[in-house]
Amino acid sequence: MNSVKSIVVLTGAGISAESGIKTFRADDGLWENHRVEDVATPEAFERDPWLVQKFYNERRRPLLCYQERESEVKYNPAHKALAKLEAQFDGDFLLITQNIDNLHEQGGSINIKHMHGEVLKMRCKSTNTVFDCFHDIEVADLCDCCGEPNNLRPHIVWFGEMPLYMDEIASAISSCDLFISIGTSGNVYPAAGFVQMANQAGARTLEINLEESLVASNFDQAIYGKAGEVLPAWVEEFLIGQRKK
Ligand code: OAD
Repeated sequence: MNSVKSIVVLTGAGISAESGIKTFRADDGLWENHRVEDVATPEAFERDPWLVQKFYNERRRPLLCYQERESEVKYNPAHKALAKLEAQFDGDFLLITQNIDNLHEQGGSINIKHMHGEVLKMRCKSTNTVFDCFHDIEVADLCDCCGEPNNLRPHIVWFGEMPLYMDEIASAISSCDLFISIGTSGNVYPAAGFVQMANQAGARTLEINLEESLVASNFDQAIYGKAGEVLPAWVEEFLIGQRKK
């Protein structure tokens, strides 16, 4: 591979699978016991805020308190490998994740865009102010900025809502020369279309996944296996190759 000056990485649920967080579309996946329309749409939140808050409270709890004490769910070697890539790569690096967990931060990554939001944050429905959230949200909780009950929602992008940071993401992809997609099935747009944006920008594209994603044919290269096993080896090899250039 020619000398690389700018890397964009996209991650999905598969990178957190070895940490014990369920993916969305596996047989025992996250959506299996819930209809998306019941827990992950603005309409669901209007209809039954208690159910929606409960769903995200359950996603948040295993991630809590990692700074003070061991959280139930921890980063794995794939998260760590991306942090190492970012720290040692001598160029621009952006990590885009569809994941709402904080395992990339736990692993040491710094330049991260959570395009589908973050479960450890909440937002005021009236003012859009975003707060850290290290506890359950109850429907009757009073909002810190407006003082109103029923106004706090998880800082999550639901179906029908616009993903976050799209301008910065488009700009980074259109100027990168290596695009790597890890642990995502290619079911959900716009993320599934990022590989095509990268191809248009002339970047090399690499898919790392357990199996072929729905958009696998768009990548120049693929490595199939568990991210926690294949990614650290790929990062080592890449960094050695870059040092020789
Ligand atoms: P999916 O559940 O659709 O796909 C996870 C992918 O990871 C699959 O292709 C698996 O084969 C792969 N995988 C599983 N274990 C792996 C491992 N150990 N190493 C590498 N790959 C592995 O999850 P996403 O593609 O992330 O959106 O889903 C995208 C979006 O759909 C989510 O962000 C969420 C969901 O609806 C919102 O909630 C807005």
